[in-house]
Amino acid sequence: MAKPIEIAQVTYGVPDLDVMEAFMTDFGLARVAKEENILYMRGSGQQHHIHVARKEEKQRFIGASIEVESKNDLIELSKLEGSSEVQLSSEPGDGYEVVMHMPDGFEIKAIWGRKKHEDVTERQAFKFNHAHAKPRVNAPIRIKQNICQAIKLGHFVLHVSNHDESVKWLQERFDLLPSDYFAPPGEAGPIVGTFLRFNHGDKKVDHHAILILQSDWVGVHHCSFEVIDLDAVMSAHDYLVSKGYQLDCGVGRHMLGSQIFDYWKDPFGFRVEHYTDGDMLDEHAEPTIFNGTAIETTQWGMAPTLEFFQ
Ligand SMILES: [Fe+2]
Repeated sequence: MAKPIEIAQVTYGVPDLDVMEAFMTDFGLARVAKEENILYMRGSGQQHHIHVARKEEKQRFIGASIEVESKNDLIELSKLEGSSEVQLSSEPGDGYEVVMHMPDGFEIKAIWGRKKHEDVTERQAFKFNHAHAKPRVNAPIRIKQNICQAIKLGHFVLHVSNHDESVKWLQERFDLLPSDYFAPPGEAGPIVGTFLRFNHGDKKVDHHAILILQSDWVGVHHCSFEVIDLDAVMSAHDYLVSKGYQLDCGVGRHMLGSQIFDYWKDPFGFRVEHYTDGDMLDEHAEPTIFNGTAIETTQWGMAPTLEFFQ
């Protein structure tokens, strides 16, 4: 089983790369490479690129790439049914990849050996003077309503036709642990959603890297980018409002994962999220089954619309 290190990228098909680039730039990403038919954007962290748009007539979510720990992980994955050989990456940054397809057809690439960038995150998180500790002294906060850098791709969420099959497919290939489950409101089961995190033993990892949801439609629900702190979320929110983009839901705090979130729609209708202050778990965290109502998935802030849950 392969050891996942990071969700490296999400890949979309869209009819206009210039429109996508303009939006993703305002969302805090930066262009790494652009050819006639493909656009690669990076965050301010080290991953070579985290958002890819291929020019296609009809927009769709193509898939995601997961960075694994070693070339041996790729060799192991290549032996499984439906996997490609270990091959040279066709993307900028080089390295190697194994291409696989989930039961509903999403393309999942395991990648290893891709070049990294220098981290170019422009500032540290502001220290927060809460009631019992005031670490920020002689250092006023000054921030403009502006683009906030997306540091890394934190997670993506898929609607699938068979939840159990998709979770099994992922867990057979990558060392993942369930962090929390969804059951229908008020019911003990069945499980209709699973939050999956990387298993790094005693080391802390994000609450989830992937969320799989049972659904009557197949596609991406959203992908999510981590930003430096709450001031980044809020100042970027105001900036995106000023640019006239479509707010989807935010700002608020999630229940499962506890992230402070802010969801927007890109120009093609795909939902993208800024987040900060998510839960960190190690191997000892036990999953819970959440069977509250949709509205209860938000602890405070803007309640998601009904469309968010469809
Ligand atoms: Fe999210």
